[in-house]
Amino acid sequence: MKFSLAIAAAAAALSSSVRAAQSFAGSNLYYAAGLTDDESTTLLTGLQSAGVKVLRVWLDGESGTVKGTPINDYPSLESGQPGNWNDTVLSRLDDFMDKAHGYGIKLLVSMHSYNALSATPPDIYGAWYGTGDFYTSSDAMGYFKNRIAHIMNHVNPHNNKRWADSPEYIFAFEAENEAMHDQQNPSALTAWQCTMATAIRSNFQNGTSNILITTGGGAYLANSLLDAYFSCADLDVLAIHAYGTGDFATSALTPYVQKAQSSNKKLIMEEWGACYYSSENQRCDQSSALDSGTRDENIKTWADQISKAGIPWFYWQILPNEDPHSDWDYEVGINGVNWDALEAVANATAGYEAAFDFSAYLL
Ligand SMILES: *[C@@H]1O[C@H](CO)[C@@H](O)[C@H](O)[C@H]1NC(C)=O
Ligand SMILES: *[C@@H]1O[C@H](CO)[C@@H](O)[C@H](O)[C@H]1NC(C)=O
Ligand SMILES: *[C@@H]1O[C@H](CO)[C@@H](O)[C@H](O)[C@H]1NC(C)=O
Repeated sequence: MKFSLAIAAAAAALSSSVRAAQSFAGSNLYYAAGLTDDESTTLLTGLQSAGVKVLRVWLDGESGTVKGTPINDYPSLESGQPGNWNDTVLSRLDDFMDKAHGYGIKLLVSMHSYNALSATPPDIYGAWYGTGDFYTSSDAMGYFKNRIAHIMNHVNPHNNKRWADSPEYIFAFEAENEAMHDQQNPSALTAWQCTMATAIRSNFQNGTSNILITTGGGAYLANSLLDAYFSCADLDVLAIHAYGTGDFATSALTPYVQKAQSSNKKLIMEEWGACYYSSENQRCDQSSALDSGTRDENIKTWADQISKAGIPWFYWQILPNEDPHSDWDYEVGINGVNWDALEAVANATAGYEAAFDFSAYLL
């Protein structure tokens, strides 16, 4: 009796000490597979000093100089026809994820991007199916499930394990960045998202893993968190992408936090950013640069609001070099303008209580 009471007391003490889940910060770099060794050292050193725990990467081919970073080109995983693989991107990421592990950083792997469907020229899925049939054609879905299996069965020579069995390197998998992000057909989209979450889970041994399954976000808060996602059993984490400042308000986010908690889902703000230009944040058109002190304040204010809602956030994006300001422009370069502000707020996320406990999934 005494013994079991002691156990109960110890368990109660433990549960109260772990109840307060810590928030964390992440970042995005969609072309991480192209970084040279020096560039990845700069990036990972900077991310670590900002306390960043997870980096989100994409698998679409890239070449030349991207966002001011001269990269090692790599082709799309599939080209010519679905299933015609070139594993260069996976091999590059084998090395990169092993290196990132040494900095306490895991990867969130986005397996395809809507951007590749709609690009000029489009990738093979865009060329064959466009941005609509991709989500409804049973052939397209079959090919895409093969892609998911190919990625998750890829063996990393650094640990001799499949990516699906590598929670030490991988935080989460998602089928696609911003799937059907303008939502031509919401019911097809939500069905596709859940079908692909199930396909991801089917590649885990016994359907379980310490790697999470997420969505890849939408174009803004409400369209990132469609009702049907909350009842899809195979989705663990629903990802928010938001750039409109109204979507950063704690009061806008809190109802979704409550809905996620009652649906046994976790939320992340997987993409957000503070525009470099003085245009509306959501548009971020090239115009005159915002005063850098004002942008620092924006970064601090919005990070604080998102963290106060209890949602861990991933900045879009932290670069290993100063941003060239040649495009829509939310990026911050390590040691460049606005870096000190972003580094400080990312590092400060650990001081906020999260509404969801991610501790089992982080290094
Ligand atoms: C894969 O891509 C790399 C880099 O572009 C290229 O050198 C290699 O020949 C390609 N392999 C195949 C099998 O196409
Ligand atoms: C899967 O289930 C089998 C049989 O119960 C078990 O031996 C194995 O360890 C499980 N694998 C994982 C990764 O849980
Ligand atoms: C990060 O936070 C820790 C703990 O509060 C602090 O010691 C460290 O100086 C911070 N680093 C930066 C770069 O803000």
